[in-house]
Amino acid sequence: MDKISGEDLRVRRLNNHSNIINFCSVNDDLNNFLKDDALLAQDNMTSITYLCFWRRVVVGFATLVAATIEVKQVEGPRIDGYAPNTYPSIKLARLAVDKNHTGRGIGPHLLFWVMGKFEKISKEIGCRYLTVDSKRESMWFYEKYDFILVEKTRNKTHPTFYLDMYLTRGKK
Ligand SMILES: CC(C)(COP(=O)(O)OP(=O)(O)OC[C@H]1O[C@@H](n2cnc3c(N)ncnc32)[C@H](O)[C@@H]1OP(=O)(O)O)[C@@H](O)C(=O)NCCC(=O)NCCS
Repeated sequence: MDKISGEDLRVRRLNNHSNIINFCSVNDDLNNFLKDDALLAQDNMTSITYLCFWRRVVVGFATLVAATIEVKQVEGPRIDGYAPNTYPSIKLARLAVDKNHTGRGIGPHLLFWVMGKFEKISKEIGCRYLTVDSKRESMWFYEKYDFILVEKTRNKTHPTFYLDMYLTRGKK
C-alpha cells in the first residue's frame, strides 16, 4: 500500500469518546492495552495515550510515561555537573500501527510527533532521553531512527534503547 502523507495524519489524545474498537495491530497485548487499560491508566495519571487518525479512523497509537534511565546505561561521559544515578527521560511505553496500514509511514510519523512533544515538554520539565523497551521483532525500527541500544539488555525480552534528545535538538 502507498505511503500516507503526514499532512493527512492527525494525532489526538485518547478520550472517552475515541472510537478505538476496530483498531487491530499484529500484537494482541498492545490491542488489549488500548481497549481495556489505556483510559484507566490515563485517569490514574500513569500514562497518556495519543491516537493517530487517518480519514477519521484510528490507525496507530503511542503511549508516553515519565521515566528515568540509569546513568551507567548511557554511553559516553556523564553529563557535566550531574550527580544523581539516573537521568530524567520520557518513555515511549507503547507504539503500534494497525496491521492493515503498516509500511505506510504511520510509525515514523508517530515517532516524530513524540519527538516534537518531547521538545515542548523539555522546555518546561527537565528530561533528556527518549527511551523505549522494544519488542525483539521491532528492534529494527528503533535502530533505523538512530536509537542507541543499551548493550547489556541486547538479549532481554525487551531490549532498552535511548535517544539523546540534546543531540537531536533542532534537527527535525
Ligand atoms: C513497528 C511499527 C510501529 C512500524 O510502523 P510502520 O508504520 O509499519 O513503519 P513503516 O514500515 O511505515 O516505516 C518504517 C521504515 O522502516 C522501513 N522498514 C520496514 N520494515 C523494516 C525492517 N524489517 N527492517 C528495516 N527497515 C524496515 C520502512 O521501509 C520504512 O522506511 P522508509 O520510510 O525509509 O520507507 C509497526 O510495524 C507495528 O505497529 N508493529 C507491531 C507493534 C510493535 O512491534 N510495536 C513496537 C513496540 S516497541
